[in-house]
Amino acid sequence: MKFFIDTANLEQIKEAQDLGVLDGVTTNPSLMAKEGITGAENILNHYKKICELVEGDVSAEVIATDFEGMVKEGEALAALHPQIVVKLPMIADGVKACKYFSDKGIKTNVTLVFSAGQALLAAKAGATYVSPFLGRLDDISTDGLNLIDEIRMIYDNYGFRTEILAASIRHTMHVINCAKLGADVMTGPLSSITGLLKHPLTDSGLAKFLEDYNKGN
Ligand code: E4P
Repeated sequence: MKFFIDTANLEQIKEAQDLGVLDGVTTNPSLMAKEGITGAENILNHYKKICELVEGDVSAEVIATDFEGMVKEGEALAALHPQIVVKLPMIADGVKACKYFSDKGIKTNVTLVFSAGQALLAAKAGATYVSPFLGRLDDISTDGLNLIDEIRMIYDNYGFRTEILAASIRHTMHVINCAKLGADVMTGPLSSITGLLKHPLTDSGLAKFLEDYNKGN
């Protein structure tokens, strides 16, 4: 399972990268705004900074909602850095743009996916990644994990190569359950990655080992 961090915060990206387990970054317009990154030039520069910090794929989302606009914006994003993945919304023009970019060999991430049918369309359009939003489904009392399970089954039935990028991850159990279901990638906040480290028996066990070592020295 690949681990992506879902933030535009450079310190948090660096912390995850330094842990040695980071495979990429996802961003969206809300995450950029949260870091105070506004204006086209600042946004493009920020994507470059993220690409320089990490080795893996960096998803950069288009703002346009029409095919021509998405193509223009996506081409500019892809030209920024080889690690950029063009992130497109799951709307009709987004599906068309996904097909356009996949035919050109440019990586894509189809976002705002909330149903198995949408995931099927993204795979048919040749998406590199499909992003089902697990946490937002859970937020409205719908089983987000069930969607991951359905997409896994459908993709395996037909051998689709689109990777399932479990998005809108909120906590460590989302990560673990997505891993059990065979999601290819998860993207979540830093806490969903570092939280996996924690176990009280690890802490007490280590304290005891050190205590016993110090008795003999
Ligand atoms: C990532 O690609 C998504 O934009 C993100 O995971 C959405 O997460 P949220 O539902 O916590 O905003």
